[in-house]
Amino acid sequence: MSYPFEPFKIKTVEPIPVTTREERERYLQEAGFNVFNLPSRAVTIDLLTDSGTGAMSDAQWAALMRGDEAYAGARSYERLAQVQRDLFGFPYFTPTHQGRAAERVLFEILLEPGDVVATNQPFDTTHANIVARGAEVLELVIEEAYDPTSHHPFKGNVDLARLEEALQGIPKPKLVLITITNNTGGGQPVSLENLRAVRALCDKYGVPLFLDAARHAENAYFIKEREAPHMSIRDIVRETFALADGMLMSAKKDGLVNIGGLLCVRDKALYDRIAQNMVRTEGFPTYGGLAGRDMEALAQGLLEAVDEAYLRYRVGQVRYLAQRLLDAGVPIIEPPGGHAVYLDVLRFLPDWPREHLPGQAIAVGLYREGGIRAVELGTVAFAKKDPETGAWIYPRMELVRLAIPRRVYTQAHLDYVADVIIDLYRHPERLRPLRIVEEPPFLRHFLARFAEM
Ligand code: F0G
Repeated sequence: MSYPFEPFKIKTVEPIPVTTREERERYLQEAGFNVFNLPSRAVTIDLLTDSGTGAMSDAQWAALMRGDEAYAGARSYERLAQVQRDLFGFPYFTPTHQGRAAERVLFEILLEPGDVVATNQPFDTTHANIVARGAEVLELVIEEAYDPTSHHPFKGNVDLARLEEALQGIPKPKLVLITITNNTGGGQPVSLENLRAVRALCDKYGVPLFLDAARHAENAYFIKEREAPHMSIRDIVRETFALADGMLMSAKKDGLVNIGGLLCVRDKALYDRIAQNMVRTEGFPTYGGLAGRDMEALAQGLLEAVDEAYLRYRVGQVRYLAQRLLDAGVPIIEPPGGHAVYLDVLRFLPDWPREHLPGQAIAVGLYREGGIRAVELGTVAFAKKDPETGAWIYPRMELVRLAIPRRVYTQAHLDYVADVIIDLYRHPERLRPLRIVEEPPFLRHFLARFAEM
């Protein structure tokens, strides 16, 4: 498979650290074998996340200089508002400092203890913000999402029968929240057809539909490829958001900025309550915790993210890495999603017991062998202890995510990553089992420390 050429050229460069194996060994010890504890000066290729790690364009850097830092009603807010209306079409919105701020503000208003939120699958912070309100999450993604070998074209879709059943249940969900693309399930897209059917069910049962739109442009590209080739990306984006009562967006992904978020709604009364909460907690709603220059960069970034040539490169780059791994027999979630390649750990290390933390062992191995930083999304991130028996309940999938920052790495970088992974796959004896020696009560993968056995 050929590598899609970058629809840009490079104007500024940043050296990346090149380390020795001995140095990496020492860094691993100091980090307690948790890659979140590694300083970035020790990381050669950083695939920890695609969030806030992208490269801005010359037009975005130029836009920073136009930032109007007025406390209220800044020109930069008006520019962002114009782009929001043109692309997404919501009558009311506020910027936020990032996605999870939008989550917190919205859920503080909409959710009460005992409420239920129906989702395909939520991101970790979204889940945590729902639970923090005393509410409960229902994950209703289609069954194919849990089969890494299924080639379903829209593995982020909602199981409509289960959604209708949930909407008839007691308590009836307060909110339906669909993540596009579904990060937790592998960056997998949701189809327009599925979203239209979800909308119809929400209308039938009188429940609002929100989108978690962090990767909405990548989702639109998959829709164009697999469902609606006759539509433009912009038309797909418009139609997607026209189906929703509101959306939350971490702009650190498809906003192509290093910091920022959006919270958009149709209902004036809901917006008024959001605005009050914003003033109290995040900032006046015409800046929402961002500087004027951040809003300028975001307005420009949102436009660049829906450019078809950019998206062809973006999705193609992820697909290129995936294909190199598949050609060597390395098991991954297929088909690859929009922002990351996910190693399927249960097939990568089929003989390992899960209490030996195989995903974390691979993440450690990738760093030790190649200075590559990826994240475990398996036992460490999601396993829970049964409150009655004390036995571990493991998540259905055991994954290691290699997230690709936007417009940052070249083909040579990805070839290097593929070479290191393929080598490790062929030499699993280099991986060492781990145990947890220190862990916080929740979201433990960020802060736990480990020891090798
Ligand atoms: N929703 C989705 C689907 C996300 O992937 C993220 C962040 C958030 C919400 C929260 O947004 O970080 O701006 O507060 N995902 C990052 C990741 C952190 O690595 O996948 P945020």
